[in-house]
Amino acid sequence: MNTLRILLSAALLASTSGLAPALEYEKDIMPIFKNKCFKCHSEKAKKPKGGLRFDDPANFHGRFEKDELVQPGNPKMSNLYYSLTRPRYDKGAMPPENKGDQLTAEETLKVRNWIIAGAPINGTRGKRGKLPKEEKKTDKSTRHIPREREWTNKQGKTILATFLKIEDDSAWLRLKNGKTYPYPIDQLSEKSQDLLKKLDSEEKIKR
Ligand code: HEC
Repeated sequence: MNTLRILLSAALLASTSGLAPALEYEKDIMPIFKNKCFKCHSEKAKKPKGGLRFDDPANFHGRFEKDELVQPGNPKMSNLYYSLTRPRYDKGAMPPENKGDQLTAEETLKVRNWIIAGAPINGTRGKRGKLPKEEKKTDKSTRHIPREREWTNKQGKTILATFLKIEDDSAWLRLKNGKTYPYPIDQLSEKSQDLLKKLDSEEKIKR
């Protein structure tokens, strides 16, 4: 009886851990995007939105680093994942509001787990893609999507927040709980101030 129980739990463990098949882009993720994203992000669209194609793994892979679309291993820092989880009314939520069905919680989780697994495409752990040469910096599709980033202050304390705008001598940040507040720029670490400058100038290109 006891032996049987041990055997059973060993079998259960094996099936939920190491032996579970790894998620793979074309097999597991592309079919999700096919249903809900191909309309605008594949050869089906006359002009794929943002030049981003999910039906073409090479195109998609090439976009990993550009726009920080996918950071293998790190869904939080991947704009692709962020586009699926940000509030519906936010610009950049995908699919755009009223333009199609959102991913289900289960599908979103699959995308997340695929990114955590290194975002493998064609059986290899995803490498960070290179910026395609022909695309110019001013291309509309290179504009940044506001999302959570790490901010450190002069005391070395780090928070996660989304940058909204600079006003007077403060950076308006939005915290996870949705609260926004102005943070004095000169209280931020040098690195965070550099990031702020970068984000603010990208905002200006957009305007
Ligand atoms: C009705 C059309 C439409 C649908 C459906 C759609 N998108 Fe988009 N997508 C857009 C548009 C428009 C943009 C903005 C392109 C730009 O900025 O030039 C965009 C941009 C994006 C970006 C940002 C690309 C970049 O350059 O940073 C991501 C990521 C994205 N979409 C993911 C998805 C995913 C995932 C789905 C399916 C769940 C989806 N989209 C469905 C229209 C769509």
